[in-house]
Amino acid sequence: MAYDHYGSDDALSLRELPSPKVGPGEVRIRVRRAGVNPVDWKAMSGGLDALMDAVFPVVPGWDVAGVVEAVGIDSPEFAVGDEVVAYARRDVLHGGTFAELVTLNVRAVARKPGALGWDEAGGLPLAGLTALQSLDRLAVTEADTVLIHGGAGGVGSLAVQIAAARGARVIATASPGNHDFLAELGATPVAYGEGEVGRIRSAAGGPVDVVVDFVGGVSEVTSAVLARGGRHASIADPSVQQVGGSWFWVRPSSEGLAELGRLADAGLLRVPVADVLPLEQLPVAFARSRQGHVRGKLVMVVSD
Ligand SMILES: NC(=O)c1ccc[n+]([C@@H]2O[C@H](COP(=O)([O-])OP(=O)(O)OC[C@H]3O[C@@H](n4cnc5c(N)ncnc54)[C@H](OP(=O)(O)O)[C@@H]3O)[C@@H](O)[C@H]2O)c1
Repeated sequence: MAYDHYGSDDALSLRELPSPKVGPGEVRIRVRRAGVNPVDWKAMSGGLDALMDAVFPVVPGWDVAGVVEAVGIDSPEFAVGDEVVAYARRDVLHGGTFAELVTLNVRAVARKPGALGWDEAGGLPLAGLTALQSLDRLAVTEADTVLIHGGAGGVGSLAVQIAAARGARVIATASPGNHDFLAELGATPVAYGEGEVGRIRSAAGGPVDVVVDFVGGVSEVTSAVLARGGRHASIADPSVQQVGGSWFWVRPSSEGLAELGRLADAGLLRVPVADVLPLEQLPVAFARSRQGHVRGKLVMVVSD
């Protein structure tokens, strides 16, 4: 699936493109599953143009689970037939994962966790690394009470589990229909909206040590519930920096993916998959993601 210019979902079309070459330090992956992330449609609309060049036609997609089908010169880490996952962000918008083949530097690639099926593995990399790197930056440990804004989404549902696996006490916001889901993942659920600050304080029994924002526009709530000297970060709202928080972008990391794999293989992390759709339904998946209420991950099937 590719687009020739910035636009909305109707800019996407299914087409034949040349197979990507495999260079030194790279592997070429036959894609089985590719997870959908909000950044895919934000980038397609031109929202990243100030940060990255687009080389058209652009195949979108930054998540992949698949099988190595060719290894480049000096890529001893992998062999043909290896089952792998990767967060496939490049320096330019080009050559993404909603395609049969993608070539990536081995630095971004890790072995697929044995405990995860293909659908789950396809939804793991970007959201999983974002969740892990958020909690690492805030040095979350078992000593912390952590508030997660947006616990039911792709990133939030993984962050809840990782924070709980560290022994932290986790409070997470979602609409009431997702409260049982959050409780199963290990969080105390709280409804967002009017009265949210009081609900969070009463769930936490006071202020919280750490706040992680996966939604945006929640700085006032964060400031109202954070303990003096508490740590906070957002992945969705750069203005958090004006109120003492940090804002960051997730980085590709094979080591981070390996850590997520160890958590999955230990039974501490699963990837909630909201739906699995065939590749040609990518415009439908983007439209659903835009609504902002997917529970867990949407995953595209590229091949079986
Ligand atoms: N900076 C980075 O590196 C980075 C990395 C990944 C993602 N992001 C950004 O972070 C955001 C989240 O990504 P994602 O993949 O997790 O998105 P997502 O899966 O589309 O998130 C959907 C979830 O958001 C929840 N939600 C919507 N409004 C909410 C609110 N006001 N309060 C609490 N929860 C709310 C929904 O729960 P309900 O249905 O219960 O409302 C739904 O489960 C996106 O803006 C994305 O672009 C940034």
